[in-house]
Amino acid sequence: MDDPSPQTIYLKDYTPSDYLIDTVSLDVNLHPTATRVRSRLTVRPNPDAVARPSAIVLDGEALELDEVRLDAKKLSPSDYTRTDNNLTIPNLPDGPFELEITTFCNPEANKALSGLYRSRDIFCTQCEAQGFRRITYFLDRPDVLARYTTRLQADKEMAPVLLSNGNLVGSGKNGNSGTHFAIWEDPHPKPSYLFAMVGGALVCVSGKFTTMSGREVDLLIYVEPGEEDRCAWAMESLKRSMKWDEERFGREYDLDVFMIVAVSDFNMGAMENKGLNVFNDKLILARPETATDADYAAIEAVIGHEYFHNWTGNRVTCRDWFQLCLKEGLTVFRDQEFTSDLRSRAVERISDVRMLKTHQFPEDSGPLAHPVRPDCYIEINNFYTATVYEKGAELCRMIETMVGREGFRAATDLYFERHDGDAATVEDFISCISEATDTDLDQFMRWYNQAGTPEVVASLSYNTKDKVAELSFSQVTPATPGQEKKQPLHMPIKLGLLGQNGDDLPLRLDSGEEITDGLIHLRDASQTFRFTDIPSPPVPSLLRGFSAPIKLTSNLSERDLEFLMANDSDLFNRWQAGQSYALRFLTRATADFRNGKDPASASAFAGALAASLRDETLEPAYRAEVLKLPSESDVAREIGKDVDPDAIHNAREWLRAEVSHALHGELEELYETNAVPGPYSPEAEDTGKRALRNAALALLAASGEESDVMRVSAHYERAENMTDKIAALGVLTHQEGKLREAAFDDFYGKWKDDHLVIDKWFSLQAISNLSDAPERVQALIKHPLFSFKTPNKVRALFGAFANMNPTGFCRADGAGFSLVADAVLEIDTFNPQISARMLGAFKSWRMLESSRQSKAKSELERIASHNKLSRDLFEIVTKTLD
Ligand code: PHE
Ligand code: ZN
Repeated sequence: MDDPSPQTIYLKDYTPSDYLIDTVSLDVNLHPTATRVRSRLTVRPNPDAVARPSAIVLDGEALELDEVRLDAKKLSPSDYTRTDNNLTIPNLPDGPFELEITTFCNPEANKALSGLYRSRDIFCTQCEAQGFRRITYFLDRPDVLARYTTRLQADKEMAPVLLSNGNLVGSGKNGNSGTHFAIWEDPHPKPSYLFAMVGGALVCVSGKFTTMSGREVDLLIYVEPGEEDRCAWAMESLKRSMKWDEERFGREYDLDVFMIVAVSDFNMGAMENKGLNVFNDKLILARPETATDADYAAIEAVIGHEYFHNWTGNRVTCRDWFQLCLKEGLTVFRDQEFTSDLRSRAVERISDVRMLKTHQFPEDSGPLAHPVRPDCYIEINNFYTATVYEKGAELCRMIETMVGREGFRAATDLYFERHDGDAATVEDFISCISEATDTDLDQFMRWYNQAGTPEVVASLSYNTKDKVAELSFSQVTPATPGQEKKQPLHMPIKLGLLGQNGDDLPLRLDSGEEITDGLIHLRDASQTFRFTDIPSPPVPSLLRGFSAPIKLTSNLSERDLEFLMANDSDLFNRWQAGQSYALRFLTRATADFRNGKDPASASAFAGALAASLRDETLEPAYRAEVLKLPSESDVAREIGKDVDPDAIHNAREWLRAEVSHALHGELEELYETNAVPGPYSPEAEDTGKRALRNAALALLAASGEESDVMRVSAHYERAENMTDKIAALGVLTHQEGKLREAAFDDFYGKWKDDHLVIDKWFSLQAISNLSDAPERVQALIKHPLFSFKTPNKVRALFGAFANMNPTGFCRADGAGFSLVADAVLEIDTFNPQISARMLGAFKSWRMLESSRQSKAKSELERIASHNKLSRDLFEIVTKTLD
């Protein structure tokens, strides 16, 4: 360890900054190995500081200090003190003063991709959460908001394009020196984490948007030369985002230019820097031949997400990093709504809930569980989690469910009006909702502070004599690390009671209250609702639209599930009924495989599935979701302990084969009738048809019949777009033999020069369930196109292997675990954010059967005992073992 005992930071210790910085004037001379940054700061004591400070303590990391001037007077080294992380200057004036600090940093050597670094030959920055301190000494905290002016200078050939936040106010050549400059001014005060600068040989694709008040905004997407023809969808998505935010939230853009830069080396998906978003290029570049429907959808969603941050994050920012969900949860909620409005609401809800259950539920029930608003952290970069983002979005959604669409809009209007220009807290947000909608959210606040997924048990009983249906609920939230005792939560539960004909019955409580919107509120540990005038035993449809992020158990029979699959008016629950039904077969079959028994027939499930598919009113995208059986990790979560991934895999393959045989004719018909003729379009309708057709193709192949596998091969050969190519490869990767090798070789030959497409080639091999998957991944490390230094490559190979290949990663001999552990240690020497994130794949190790558990544990201990871990990895490995 660099630092033997990394410090824990607590929310309760928050105090306002001693000083504020009003303006920042940066003068940057870009150089690959020695970039000079001269920063002029106007500083004043913070009137809200708790005490009069005796010195200013600036953050700074990996900086070479050249000089410090205080009110123009050069300081000598004895006038200040330095550590690895700080520059402390005492003896300051009582009033405002000016600091001028000159430092050097080395972008070329920066492989952590935080601060100023080079991605291929492009200079770019990443400042969230604490990267600005790697560019210059600063009060690098989100509640210090300043106006920035940035002068960039560089060799004109090396960096013909120079960008920063705000508006361009000057540019030119520096005589005959071969260098040039650009001056950018951002009129909006912002925290340092939203600063960005970019320099390099970039080309630009441009567009225009006229805002609701009639202002023209230039939209500029910067990419490497040669990629211009892959920007059209990103541009279209940006325009849709800007329009949607005006219509749905009344939010208008506030600068004359909105820029996006695509880079190849990036730790995350994208970053919302004010007026200058920086994107991982996989979330910008798309052509039908190179990008799948899923890529197109992700581009649209992430462009939306980053754009929406302009109000939820930038205009109103976070007081401190504990409030991260204030911007992320709300912005994810907004991007989910954007997709729902543009595409299919039901399909979007299904995929959001899938995501939540696959990533957030295991986090919330494992060693890394934390509240949506954590109360402590060692390394903030470890808290960009599914809990903060996805569960954070669910909290916004629950609020919207309770106060209604219009109420929510009134509340956000108030929030933007009251807190524009502020660094706000979750309490500020919640107060606006309470005030604007007259809602008591005191108990609801517990959702922000209490970790763990609540477990709710519901049971319905029917009294024939009184015609009363009694619905009882009880809730418990299991203990999580550091939180033994939990309090009951306020949960909105959407429900319906279906009568014999499948229609929703009117809901009236015995108090006389009519429930017209199907919404009830749980607040107590246990609670009973009595519905009157129910003519016959109803089938309950509970938690419609997944109205609260909980684990719900109810006493539905298999008959009830079939009935809901055929009749539920709530499309989310109709899908959920099919998944729940499948899970019953899958858990039973898993037990059978472990006991060496043959599973009983699944024809009841296949029949119900066929019936639900026959409903022609359902759109293809939705039917594609219905056709996807629960994943292996869904089954593992359902089983919960003593998990044997091989038995789960066998059970799932068995069920797929059963369905494939039983529905062969129907599936073939779906495959034939959903071919999409004509030129490729990434819009929802065609995407849905391809999804349905490809789901049918995959399920047909599960029969194991040679003709069904041959169909996949033919599908690959005939495919005219990347979606269909990948759909075929996704099946072939699990097939031993020459069809597989031929397809992968063909794909490699065509795409080896395209770094984004080749990532798909790595991923598809990493997820193979062939028994030698770990050896194949091991071999791919040596492939000339693989690099540990590029996060996309690491995610493509190791991310896919560790998170999407349970039989490979958890192979009984431990080879998968040790392969990933080796990679984590290697990466940790230069990019702690990526190594720590990758170790997250071990979070569910305690759910495994004992022999795999001990193999996982020894790998974790091997990492923990390493003597030079980053703070990021240290936090994750210690908590995972705790
Ligand atoms: N704030 C970015 C987003 O959600 C994510 C991010 C965090 C990117 C940290 C880089 C570093 O949209
Ligand atoms: Zn975000």
